[in-house]
Amino acid sequence: MKGLLLAGGHGTRLRPLTYTGNKHMLPIANKPMLLYGLEHLKNAGIKEIGIILGPIKEGVVETIGDGSKFDLKVSYIDQPDPLGLAHAVKVSREFIGDDSFVMYLGDNLLKQGVKDFVRIFMERDLDCLVGVTSVKDPSRFGIAELDEKTGKIIKLVEKPKEPKSNLALIGVYVFNSTIFDAVSRIEPSWRNELEITDAIQLLVTEGRKVQVERVTGWWKDTGKPDDLLEANQLVLSDQSSEIKGEISEKAIVTGSLGLGVSSKIREGTSIRGPVIIGDNCEIGPDAYIGPYTSIGDNCVLKNVEIENSIVMKGSRIENKKRIVDSLVGAYSTILSNESIKPQGYKLVIGERSFLQI
Ligand code: G1P
Repeated sequence: MKGLLLAGGHGTRLRPLTYTGNKHMLPIANKPMLLYGLEHLKNAGIKEIGIILGPIKEGVVETIGDGSKFDLKVSYIDQPDPLGLAHAVKVSREFIGDDSFVMYLGDNLLKQGVKDFVRIFMERDLDCLVGVTSVKDPSRFGIAELDEKTGKIIKLVEKPKEPKSNLALIGVYVFNSTIFDAVSRIEPSWRNELEITDAIQLLVTEGRKVQVERVTGWWKDTGKPDDLLEANQLVLSDQSSEIKGEISEKAIVTGSLGLGVSSKIREGTSIRGPVIIGDNCEIGPDAYIGPYTSIGDNCVLKNVEIENSIVMKGSRIENKKRIVDSLVGAYSTILSNESIKPQGYKLVIGERSFLQI
């Protein structure tokens, strides 16, 4: 069994954060999103993983390399144009060979991992197993229509305008090599992509053994900024405390806190977890870090109140305001302007930034 981890998308809905790097390297609870998928594949016993990359490669190869530091063998597969998930399978033919494989969309996070999917696929000797879950907005996803009595798949449809079911494909699939013939026979969809959903539908039509399996824990697709914050909340909810840095006696910490090496929590600071703070950070004096906040390595936060936010590495925030529900890109600076007259907001913000001030 091999693994195929998809990290080729452009992440346009996450601009400007994705102008300077691959979307899948954005941190969730201080860990690049793609590493969650990599670890899930590893925990399912998979040792050889192909990562599909598009034109934006920044960060992926530097972080994962040949996989040896994760005790894995990682190769990179080029998908220059985002022509769809079935196209990603096509370009992986040589890497996969005749093996079965798990395909995992690198921008999806799920609590339970993929071990159970692999086990079920093998136990039932399937041609394809598709992970599904109920969603509120089925027209945004690939949808599975099932026979109510037998649970068998009637039809799989990609982003139906009038969905007949709310069971969405979650972006985890297990295939054997019959999928390669199917992806070679489908036509591009209305969005000019070769849809994996259509290829799986072809397997269903031709009587192959295709089944769906519901996820048991949470699942999150991270297309938009708010999705990143929600994924961050979900991961932090499961966090237990681990303190490697120093906490002043005059600081108050409640709830779970992950505090990295050489980081300092200074006097007058209040931390209400779950919160994660990376290495070499200086928090306080007089800061409030509220629930569901992740602060990357080498950050300085003084005087500020912040809650439900992701602050990426190397950022500095010294500001007497309250910051909520925010994504602060790496190496950003947010300062107070109270001593500057005339009063006003002084901004240096990049293309496609979003501010609500
Ligand atoms: C893709 C798949 C879709 C699936 C979704 C899960 O959609 O085409 O079937 O439900 O991932 O995140 P896309 O992200 O390309 O819109």
